[in-house]
Amino acid sequence: MKKIFLAGVATMALFFVYSCGSNTNKPAGNPYTNTTPEAKPAAVDGESIYKKTCVACHMGDGGGVNGAFPPLAKSDYLADKGRAILQVIKGKSGEMVVNGSTYNGTMPPQPLNDEEIAAVLTYVYSNFGNTGGPVTAAEVKAVRDKN
Ligand code: HEC
Repeated sequence: MKKIFLAGVATMALFFVYSCGSNTNKPAGNPYTNTTPEAKPAAVDGESIYKKTCVACHMGDGGGVNGAFPPLAKSDYLADKGRAILQVIKGKSGEMVVNGSTYNGTMPPQPLNDEEIAAVLTYVYSNFGNTGGPVTAAEVKAVRDKN
């Protein structure tokens, strides 16, 4: 009686192992089982960082707020890339002249890593009527290391 019971358990165990095994035997390249959204690394998205971090002061169109927050749109301040990078890393208070208007506000340092600053500045430099090459994480790091 005991033997028959053990044989039954063994059979069930084998069946269990077999059925699990057959599930993992799908072809490795099956596009329906292998293409999951998490499989792609999330790229750092400059636009979403802008909309979360900068928009409150510099506005959605980069126009800023007259007399309080300088514009990023067609800002002549952006001509010096290193200065723009430093602005985001360290923030700044005191007078600055942007497109001929004087601002005397305070921008807090932005708690973003090199990739995030590169992405958000690339977004700024390629929108709002601005022209400027992409900003790389290496450029941000170089400015961070020097200051
Ligand atoms: C709390 C408000 C605030 C936030 C948030 C903020 N800034 Fe600023 N930003 C300012 C102010 C104020 C100045 C001018 C500072 C001064 O007068 O010294 C400035 C100046 C600048 C400048 C240089 C001047 C210009 O207009 O070109 C750049 C570039 C800049 N900010 C980019 C950014 C970016 C990118 C972000 C988001 C990562 C950001 N700022 C977030 C308030 C802010």
